[in-house]
Amino acid sequence: MKPLKMGLIGAGGIAQAHMRALAGVEEIEVVAVADIAQDRAEATAKRYGIPHVFEDYRKILEMDEVEAVNITTYNQAHCAPTVDALRAGKHVLVEKPMAATLNDAAAMTKAAHETDKLLMVALKTRYSPYRLAAKTIVDSGALGDIYYAEAVACRRCGIPGGSFIRKDMAGIGTVADIGVYALDEVLHLMGHPKPVAVSGIANNTLGKSHKPVLGSWKWVPEDLEVEDFGVASVRFENGALMIFKTSWIMHMDSLGGNLLLGTQGGLKMNPLTVYRHEFGMLTDVTPQLPSLQDVDLFRLENLGFAEAIREGKPSPIPPEEMLLTNVIIQGLVDSAASGGEVKVSIPDV
Ligand SMILES: NC(=O)c1ccc[n+]([C@@H]2O[C@H](COP(=O)([O-])OP(=O)(O)OC[C@H]3O[C@@H](n4cnc5c(N)ncnc54)[C@H](O)[C@@H]3O)[C@@H](O)[C@H]2O)c1
Repeated sequence: MKPLKMGLIGAGGIAQAHMRALAGVEEIEVVAVADIAQDRAEATAKRYGIPHVFEDYRKILEMDEVEAVNITTYNQAHCAPTVDALRAGKHVLVEKPMAATLNDAAAMTKAAHETDKLLMVALKTRYSPYRLAAKTIVDSGALGDIYYAEAVACRRCGIPGGSFIRKDMAGIGTVADIGVYALDEVLHLMGHPKPVAVSGIANNTLGKSHKPVLGSWKWVPEDLEVEDFGVASVRFENGALMIFKTSWIMHMDSLGGNLLLGTQGGLKMNPLTVYRHEFGMLTDVTPQLPSLQDVDLFRLENLGFAEAIREGKPSPIPPEEMLLTNVIIQGLVDSAASGGEVKVSIPDV
């Protein structure tokens, strides 16, 4: 099998996780790397034996041998390389969240449609065996109609530093950083219903006023430019409602986890637990699954990307689905700014 020749755009923290996961993978060969911080690109090239190194990612797009790119830049630098790469005829794997703004996500989706190239958003949790099991259960109809869900991604005290808390780089905080994992999981399980209205709040009061004391999270409160807390209620066209909660810091141990309520049963994640109305009573029908140990989700998502290109399949994590996460995130941001519920709609792309 001929390997997929790939370029790596961005050589920061998560690029290293992708490169480590590709060790020994015959299906993908990374032939070029670019980073505006050229020392990072050079160090990554040296570490993994990548032959071509650039400061400007457009040099990778000029390489005929490159069929696809993996974009691992910070959120505010997802859109331009994605659109440029698609227009240069390359397939694109781009890190989560798809983008910091709905406008960027819409432009990326539009470019994928216009170029007919494959665009996949790297939500590695889509490859979790627990997620796949949960999806199989919900899609079987075992829970009946889903009328309520909660999407929750919270840390007790875990504000990152670096590019993650800067407006010009990340653009947005916890709502898109860890919040997108919860949103993607719940929307995926619900079958991607259409959001129509969002009401939420967002702030960074705690992160700005609390200095990190213990633990490995070492943010500088004065440097925090994005929200560290966000909650919203989301109404869907089919009548269902979702409560979305995300936080990098809070005075509470937990705000719960992802769950779905249906007319025939209920399901929660982490650990996957399934209830059904059986024998006239609430019955635990949780499947017995192997542990996640030894499952490298970065490797699986890269292999899924390469296989879809090789076999002419649709994107395993398509932009149209991820666009919905950006509709909700933008709705939360706009609602928090306006102080009331906002109507939301999916951009026509
Ligand atoms: N999938 C996961 O588990 C996971 C985990 C952490 C972060 N992420 C995502 O990965 C992305 C990057 O996170 P990170 O931790 O690697 O951040 P980082 O700040 O460590 O790295 C980003 C890199 O992109 C480079 N860059 C920025 N603009 C560029 C451009 N135009 N061309 C080339 N290089 C450019 C920066 O110089 C930097 O080296 C974020 O979107 C983040 O949400 C995903």
